[in-house]
Order: sequence, then C-alpha cells, then structure tokens
Amino acid sequence: MLESKFYGIGVGVGDPDMLTLKAIKAFKELDVVVLPEAKKAEGSTAYEIAKEYLKENVELLFIEFPMVKCVEARKGFRKENADKIIKYLEAGKKVGFLTIGDPMTYSTYVYILEHLDGEIPVETIPGISSFSDMSSRFNLPLVMGEESLKVVSLNGETNIVEEINSADNIVFMKVSRNFDVLRDGLEKTGNLENVIMVSNCGKETQEINFDLTKINKEDIPYFTTLILKKGGINQWKKFIS
Ligand SMILES: C[S@@+](CC[C@H](N)C(=O)[O-])C[C@H]1O[C@@H](n2cnc3c(N)ncnc32)[C@H](O)[C@@H]1O
Repeated sequence: MLESKFYGIGVGVGDPDMLTLKAIKAFKELDVVVLPEAKKAEGSTAYEIAKEYLKENVELLFIEFPMVKCVEARKGFRKENADKIIKYLEAGKKVGFLTIGDPMTYSTYVYILEHLDGEIPVETIPGISSFSDMSSRFNLPLVMGEESLKVVSLNGETNIVEEINSADNIVFMKVSRNFDVLRDGLEKTGNLENVIMVSNCGKETQEINFDLTKINKEDIPYFTTLILKKGGINQWKKFIS
C-alpha cells in the first residue's frame, strides 16, 4: 500500500552547504517536490539551493503564492495551493514542500499545514534561518548573557521606534518593504551605527552594508535582513571581511 507523507523542508537561504543531512535524506524519499514562487515562472530560490541533491526523476510542482494586498485573495491562493498538494497526498505520494531558511519562520509552508486534516503524517525539517546564517557567517553574536532578541517582519504599519525600544537585539526582516522608515527610526534612537544589513546572504550576489545613509530603498533586494545590536557591533567588525 502507498503511504503518503507531507514534509516541510527548510533549505537555508542561499548556500547549499547549509542544507542539513536530514533534509538531504528526506529528498531521497520524495515523489513530488513543491516549490513556492512569488510570481508564476519567476523561479524558486529553494530549488536553486537544493537542486543538486534532488532525485533526477522527482516531480517538480511550482506553485505561486502571489504577494497580493487583499487578505481574502491571499487566503484563496493558499487554499487552492493546499488543495493541489492534498490531491497528491490522497494519491499516496510523498510530497516535500521546500522553504527557504526555516519552515517555521515566516514561511508559506504553514499555510498549507493549516489546510491538512491531521490524518496524513507530517514531518517538518528545520532549516537555517536568514538571521542565523548571517550572524554565524559574519561571526557576530546574536544574543549574549541576559540580552533579549526580537524578530520583526516589516510592513507599512511597523512602529520602528517602539520595536527598537523593546529589545536589546532586533532582527528586521523584509527590510525592502519599509527601508526609509526603518532608517529614520534607527537614526532617531541613535542606532544607525549599530547595524549590519545583508542582502542575498550566502549567494554569489551577497552584499553587506554597515552604512545605511547612502542606500536607496529601490536598490534593496527582497532577500535583505538587518540585525540591530544596541550594544554596538564595532567590536565584532574585525571578524567580518
Ligand atoms: C518570507 S521570509 C522567509 C524567511 C525564512 N523562512 C527564514 O527562515 O529566514 C523572506 C525574508 O527572509 C529574509 N531572507 C531570506 N533569504 C535571505 C537572504 N539570502 N539574505 C538575507 N535575508 C534573507 C529577508 O528578510 C526576506 O525578506
């Protein structure tokens, strides 16, 4: 009898060497690999990271999760996508949903999970998040001793100053959405010098920025994360090349 199973597999954010052994072992089990795209036929970052480890004959299913403003439309796309995946699972297939970074950190994977009924076994395999990769890659401690850490995904309504005041270290994700407001908030709170901003971490196009004053919002790629360390980052810069 065919035994279906749904996997959520984190593949890290750019460098295939950051894939876990558990992820690579799971790839061998899969009949179908689901690859989320923000726009149809735009390509999948997760696929680029994992492709050399996938089985040759595995079926690839690219599915679109458009970033539309309307909440109801977004929900509609998620349901449609879940239904597509459920069809494969009901046919007894082993289906792996690949996500960049970690599947439980701002990932569309959870919107598929929401639609499963709990009858089909699910296994979620963690991946290395953007900010974990960044902090280790650049030898920059994320949190030390009694310090706190907050992860904030920027949107048009984020109150930057309030967020900055609420923790010792803050990871700002989706920076391109509201960069100007973020920069203003960092300036107002005297934190402009306490940041590292990395775009396309772990990829060939990786870019590191410490000075935000000359950057245009339009030039910031979607895959950009900023870490604020209110205690300062100067003492760690010697390890960053
Ligand atoms: C939809 S979230 C995905 C987060 C992902 N699941 C994780 O664990 O990092 C997209 C955001 O992740 C961050 N991100 C993803 N890949 C990145 C990369 N290669 N370099 C820098 N930031 C990245 C950016 O903040 C981007 O806007």
